[in-house]
Amino acid sequence: MDRLDQAKKMAAERAVDFVEDGMVVGLGTGSTAMWAIRRLGERVKEGLNVHAIGTSSQTEELARSLHIPLVTFAEIKELDLAIDGADEVAHDLSLTKGGGGALLREKLVASAARRFLVIIDQTKRVHHLGRFLLPVEVVPFGWELTQFRIKTQGCTAKLRILGDHEEPYVSDNGNYILDCDFKEIADPRSLHRDLKALPGVVETGLFIDMVYAVIESDGVDVSVEYKGLG
Ligand code: A5P
Repeated sequence: MDRLDQAKKMAAERAVDFVEDGMVVGLGTGSTAMWAIRRLGERVKEGLNVHAIGTSSQTEELARSLHIPLVTFAEIKELDLAIDGADEVAHDLSLTKGGGGALLREKLVASAARRFLVIIDQTKRVHHLGRFLLPVEVVPFGWELTQFRIKTQGCTAKLRILGDHEEPYVSDNGNYILDCDFKEIADPRSLHRDLKALPGVVETGLFIDMVYAVIESDGVDVSVEYKGLG
């Protein structure tokens, strides 16, 4: 395993230490969250009693294969904890997410969690958001109009394409993703508000004031930074 994977694994496994018997846990998507799901699967095998909600069909599949019991929002309205990765974490602990296309479900799950733990390797730290393209989920109908309007906010906005194909990537919710290059996002809160005000925009990958703690590793050490204590 290389150092980056080791860092992801260490941050993820530290987050799973926060899980206690009887909790309902939100499970994120991506290569870092995957390590947390695997570790949770081990703890379930050892006898831990938990229920989980996945943020993507990929995550649900992995959780099921590890015998982690899944619930839905029909059954519960609040989660004790959510654990997920991020594409970028700024100094104020605002985040960009959605590199894996799961931003809408990730935001729903994080918003329902009493504590949202973000797990990252040290490459995800930035001073200001914007180095990573900002994913914006849009409805397929009239997406070209939505793209045009998003561009007037001062960015390029590229339709995400599936792998080598010419087909648009379609999210678990049946929507498209526009990857937007704003260079530097000085005010994530107002950008998020402006984008959300556009008809056709379902959600943005900006996560603001949602984090309880960021757990970061460089593959050797792990640190936990609590919101408000940084
Ligand atoms: C999925 O849509 C994303 O929000 C991921 O959580 C994010 O892209 C981080 O993924 P990695 O852990 O694979 O870097």
